[in-house]
Amino acid sequence: MPTPFFPTTRFTAATAPGGLPLLGHAPALLHHPHEFVAGLPAHGDLVRLRLGPLRAYVVCHPELVRRMLTDDQTFDKGGPLLDKAREVFGNGLATCPAAAHRRQRRMLQPAFHRDRLPGYAALMIEEIAGATARWHDGDVIDVPAAMYRLSTAVTARCLFAAHERAGSLPVHRSMDVVTRGVGRRLMLPLPGADRLPTPGNRRFRRAQQDLREITRRLIAEHRATGTDRHDLLSTLLAATDEDGRGLSDTEVHEQVVTFLLAGMETTAATLSWAWTLLAANPAVRTRLHAELDTVLDGQPARHEDLPSLPLTARIVSETLRLYPPPWILSRTATTDTELGGHRVPAGATLLYSPYLLHRRPDLFPRPDRFDPDRWLTTARPAPGTYAPFGLGARRCIGDAFGTTEAVLAIATIAARWTIAPTPGRPVRPVRGSSLVPRPFTATLTRRVR
Ligand code: HEM
Repeated sequence: MPTPFFPTTRFTAATAPGGLPLLGHAPALLHHPHEFVAGLPAHGDLVRLRLGPLRAYVVCHPELVRRMLTDDQTFDKGGPLLDKAREVFGNGLATCPAAAHRRQRRMLQPAFHRDRLPGYAALMIEEIAGATARWHDGDVIDVPAAMYRLSTAVTARCLFAAHERAGSLPVHRSMDVVTRGVGRRLMLPLPGADRLPTPGNRRFRRAQQDLREITRRLIAEHRATGTDRHDLLSTLLAATDEDGRGLSDTEVHEQVVTFLLAGMETTAATLSWAWTLLAANPAVRTRLHAELDTVLDGQPARHEDLPSLPLTARIVSETLRLYPPPWILSRTATTDTELGGHRVPAGATLLYSPYLLHRRPDLFPRPDRFDPDRWLTTARPAPGTYAPFGLGARRCIGDAFGTTEAVLAIATIAARWTIAPTPGRPVRPVRGSSLVPRPFTATLTRRVR
């Protein structure tokens, strides 16, 4: 259990040690971000950082995280980090301020309604089967790249189901450049560095334009026919607010880009980490195979199999605990306020990190250990303790979509293939705003049951 929390006075949060002149804690955050952030609870429940000219607070206590995330009027999306994200997402659901959020969320929620999941799952299964049909025994694959292609195909297909095979959409190439560019931009310490005419920045701008053009064409095609194709785009085009107004083409475009960006890399990273964890924990993998052999009997997983795959689901939960893809996220204080007795000035940037929370030994005993069975308990973790999908009004709208995809993909793939990372080099995360593994290779072996 975390330390009890009884704030009574208003005091200033402690500053993390080790800040350098001018740069502050930015070098530590850039060079060993995860270790640095996981060490911050030792300095307090709310810890101040200097990131060049930016002052930020890292919220380390789960109860404070809960309070912040459930008060989106006081702790809104905004600030310099969000401004960079808005360059790409526009004012879509993930980046819009609280004032616009309620309307958008109400309009978009039907697209992720529980009843829609079986339809999406059917498309997911086709894409998973299509992607793995090209695999051969003994192939060596770049695992993160393969999972990224798979997850892009799934997200694109569920958005634009009419396009028989999502792999035929040029959206993949542009999204790849844009997603990686966004991650790098969010971490750039120098203001204006993203506007320099470097080849990388030019590639990024071109990919953004291409993406705009592709979605503009798809929206026009959908609007012209007006039929519900049971995909995300149809739901977006049908959505209306309380006054009966629909989304404009620009708004639809922003939501499409938001779903693509928010859905692809997160699920791809979850799958890639799951393969490394399963390879490193053969006893869990053996039990997984037993579950899959019993339930699937050699067939791909279907939506109706999900309740019979509890170990697969726990593997996904535990992977998200150890490697939550959006591992650090921000809010801005809209007014002078306090958090747990600490003064927080208007305009302050606040950061919360699912990675930090998930690695606290007082919340998760032996936190670095991969132990899917820690989820066997029926007791839910206290709010703010386990937060791979965030919390409150801004909680991930695609949580069920993402976990369904991850469980179906792990079950279908692990039933037929063993993925063995090439020995010798430990798999490490890239430095960026998402906890994504660096490229690593693995050998595929077809399983004999
Ligand atoms: C394993 C997969 C996923 C993870 C770990 C994940 C994680 C998250 C997190 C942590 C947030 C909250 C951000 C914050 O507090 O600022 C979020 C928001 C969001 N996610 Fe996901 N996500 C996943 C999959 C998806 C998918 C598949 C989609 C869509 C197809 C999606 C769409 C969104 C959107 C639109 C938001 C913004 C919600 C709002 O502000 O109302 N996510 N996600």
